[in-house]
Amino acid sequence: MKKTTLLLSLIAVSAASLVWAHGSATGIVKERMDGMVAMSKATKAITPMMRGNVEYNAEAIRDYARTIEEHAGEAMTKLFPEGSGGMPSEAKDDVWTDWEQFEVLAMQLENLGKGLAQAAENGLAESVSEEGASTNMMGTSGMMGTGGMMGQTMNGMIDIEMLAQMPADAVFAKVGQACSACHTKFRAESN
Ligand code: HEC
Repeated sequence: MKKTTLLLSLIAVSAASLVWAHGSATGIVKERMDGMVAMSKATKAITPMMRGNVEYNAEAIRDYARTIEEHAGEAMTKLFPEGSGGMPSEAKDDVWTDWEQFEVLAMQLENLGKGLAQAAENGLAESVSEEGASTNMMGTSGMMGTGGMMGQTMNGMIDIEMLAQMPADAVFAKVGQACSACHTKFRAESN
């Protein structure tokens, strides 16, 4: 009985410190964290399907894409008003000193969500383990090859029509890259 209580409180403490930043946030900061967490959970949930470990379901992929779209673009940037940095936020000052790039990355994510919704019916790349890996890395330049990063225009915006032609898992990989790209630059203690 005692042991259980101790164990439970230990678990409670470590979980509390993990979610401290999130837990102590309020208002708009909490709102944007919630949006990020929703995307993160949805991404984890859909990963087995994208890897071909569970049966493919285009509707589930579209649901996922909608979740991303809903939390990206302007829906995301409007939750980052000037002066909303500082504890407990993990947003770096660069968000506001480099607002244009921040916006572009948020827009890219929105377009990826839109593109993925359309790519859902394409299914997974045929050989996910081998071809898939190089496809994702090369941006499928071999497949549609016009040089440069496929699905991305000169000004860095993402071409939804091109994404719509790609295997769903290739677009999904780009979603993950978009999260990381922004976190690397704009989030302190990024994963
Ligand atoms: C345009 C930039 C940008 C994009 C794109 C982006 N994030 Fe974030 N993310 C941030 C910033 C900035 C923070 C820190 C927010 C804060 O603490 O105020 C953050 C925080 C988070 C957090 C921590 C939330 C918390 O509870 O503290 C998670 C989880 C997360 N993002 C997941 C994702 C996922 C998954 C994606 C892609 C599907 C994504 N993010 C895309 C900028 C971005």
